[in-house]
Amino acid sequence: MVDRWVQDHQRDSWRKQAKASGYRARSAFKLKQIQERHKIVEKGSLVLDVGCHPGGWAQVAVELTGENGKVVGVDLQSCVPVDGANLIVGDITDEHTQKIVLDAFESSTIDVVVSDISPHITGKWDIDQAVSLMLVAEVFDFALPVLRKGGNFVTKIFQGVGVEELIDLVKPHFQTVKRFSPMASRNSSSEVYLVCKNHGPKKGPDWKIRPAFEESLNERKGGLEPNEDIEPAKTTFSIRKRRSNDN
Ligand SMILES: C[S@@+](CC[C@H](N)C(=O)[O-])C[C@H]1O[C@@H](n2cnc3c(N)ncnc32)[C@H](O)[C@@H]1O
Repeated sequence: MVDRWVQDHQRDSWRKQAKASGYRARSAFKLKQIQERHKIVEKGSLVLDVGCHPGGWAQVAVELTGENGKVVGVDLQSCVPVDGANLIVGDITDEHTQKIVLDAFESSTIDVVVSDISPHITGKWDIDQAVSLMLVAEVFDFALPVLRKGGNFVTKIFQGVGVEELIDLVKPHFQTVKRFSPMASRNSSSEVYLVCKNHGPKKGPDWKIRPAFEESLNERKGGLEPNEDIEPAKTTFSIRKRRSNDN
């Protein structure tokens, strides 16, 4: 009960600060804290904001990129406009939306991707967490081919099954991949941010994250099932029947 009270109180405090600072959501502070620590956005950067509603991250991204930068956001829900950002309504996993997003940059490459994407929450934790990681894998597959060499990628993930597998698949595409938990999201949930810096495009045909991620999860599932081909191990132990007069 006390923990719950503390969490609610902290969330309220970030909400009040957001309101006082003119940000639309307390999540704005998460991106600010990620930036403070990891310096992912530079003045003049082209930034893609995935899952941008209601626009808190877009507001921060516009401040960080300045006049010469460009911020394009995309979300299933429409946002009240943010000065200096182009916010598109659509599903980032849909090819048509992807094309509109890329056209909006008027450039063949993007410098930074920031993704706070969260699927619709059903309340069944295992399902929500798995769907969220699949969605993140899809965002990587869309964005990696257009992320410039040396570019950065930040994404929210929910801790749980599959996180290690996803990180292992992402690592070859970047110089560093780190987990970071901003103060503004601590105690509030199991969310954490993956901060992937200095993109180095992986060569070869098998670069896609989502199919490999699904495969690794299937392997993990298979690994937990009993394999009937394996012979039982022979041991030197035998079970001695207890004699009725044993004590
Ligand atoms: C936590 S909110 C983002 C908050 C935002 N960063 C801010 O600061 O205002 C997550 C968003 O992801 C969006 N989303 C979920 N699935 C999506 C998809 N397939 N394509 C685009 N947006 C998606 C949701 O609609 C939701 O608005």
